[in-house]
Amino acid sequence: MPFQPPDVLLLGPGPSPTSPAVQRAQSLPLLGHLDPAFTPLLDEVQARLRAAFGTMNAFTLPLAGTGTAGMEAAVANLVARGDRVVVGVHGVFGQRFAEAVRRRAGDVVVVAAEFGQAVDPEAFAHAVAAGPTKLCAVVHAETSTGVATDLAPFSAVARSANALFAVDCVTSLGGLVLDLDRLGVDAAFSGTQKCLSAPPGLAPVTFSSRALARSHANPDPVPFYFDTKLLTGYFGPDRAYHYTAPISMLYALAAALDELEAEGLVARERRHRTVAAALRAGLAPLGLQPLVPAAMALPMLTTVRYPDGVDDKAFRACLRHRHGIEVGGGLGPLAGKVFRVGLMGHGARMPNVLRALGAFGDALVAAGRSVDIPAALAAAARVGESTVVSSAATKP
Ligand SMILES: Cc1ncc(COP(=O)(O)O)c(C=O)c1O
Repeated sequence: MPFQPPDVLLLGPGPSPTSPAVQRAQSLPLLGHLDPAFTPLLDEVQARLRAAFGTMNAFTLPLAGTGTAGMEAAVANLVARGDRVVVGVHGVFGQRFAEAVRRRAGDVVVVAAEFGQAVDPEAFAHAVAAGPTKLCAVVHAETSTGVATDLAPFSAVARSANALFAVDCVTSLGGLVLDLDRLGVDAAFSGTQKCLSAPPGLAPVTFSSRALARSHANPDPVPFYFDTKLLTGYFGPDRAYHYTAPISMLYALAAALDELEAEGLVARERRHRTVAAALRAGLAPLGLQPLVPAAMALPMLTTVRYPDGVDDKAFRACLRHRHGIEVGGGLGPLAGKVFRVGLMGHGARMPNVLRALGAFGDALVAAGRSVDIPAALAAAARVGESTVVSSAATKP
């Protein structure tokens, strides 16, 4: 018997739910990765990724591998042994970025902030000014905490030091309007399983011409798989074999990007913001509080503190087994203290907000708390409806 997955609503930090169109695309018959009927799809996907990233970079492509492969590709190409690299760390993925540089024998300088806070651009500027810096790196959407990074001040710091600027956009791509060229971002990478709502397994990456030049001039050998010239050989007009492209995932990504284009990035960001605001409004009647103040919170990932005495494992097990809902646990110092709710891509919808709040209320009752579920649902619905009405009213 083929594996039959149970029906689970994915409201964690990723993967997010895929739409029926994306699922259908993924199940289509294979073509060869060099077949002339297949390769035009590569051009289409690359063009749509450029639009989603807000870039004209020629080198913009879906690398095989998850988001971490995108991070490794950026680090492997842009860092050589001994290069000074300043990394903003305010969560697990900033730590991972710093570790990737360390493993490439880079000279890592970490500018840290507490989990749940933003990295201070002034502290970052001081660190960059303290030595000849080759690369500045930050995480745009820190999924381990739910904090957003305002990229502009970090970009300005990188520019003034004549350093390259690399950004982890794993959780922001497809959920926020990105404008990487205007912001002066030299390298960015993402994953397909978050706000793009495609299956995990591809890492969209984009490099500016400055980043490409650095990669070509890197004195250390770049791993074969991540070699920008070899990747361009396949994704560019030559169609030269580099590796066997993951055909089915590319079908699925193309379908997901079709949906993104049909909706439009501005509307998509608005949808993510609406459901996040509705979720936050519904937390208080349940006695729950978000970890991150609204002004610096991500719309696609909300981190919620546990009230005293509520056990993380029991709470999430109740959601999963009684309600068929997956949410994420806390990572690092937040383990056991918070849970993480992802409303990403196809999952960012009001019915999912209401279903989640009802399930949170039930799991809290099971933990012995008294909560007002109808008030939570009403508060969320009010915000969801008023935002939909006011954004419809302000449409040109
Ligand atoms: C911000 C961020 N960066 C990097 C990663 C790593 O991506 P992956 O798990 O797809 O390798 C994740 C995954 O959750 C992430 O959220």
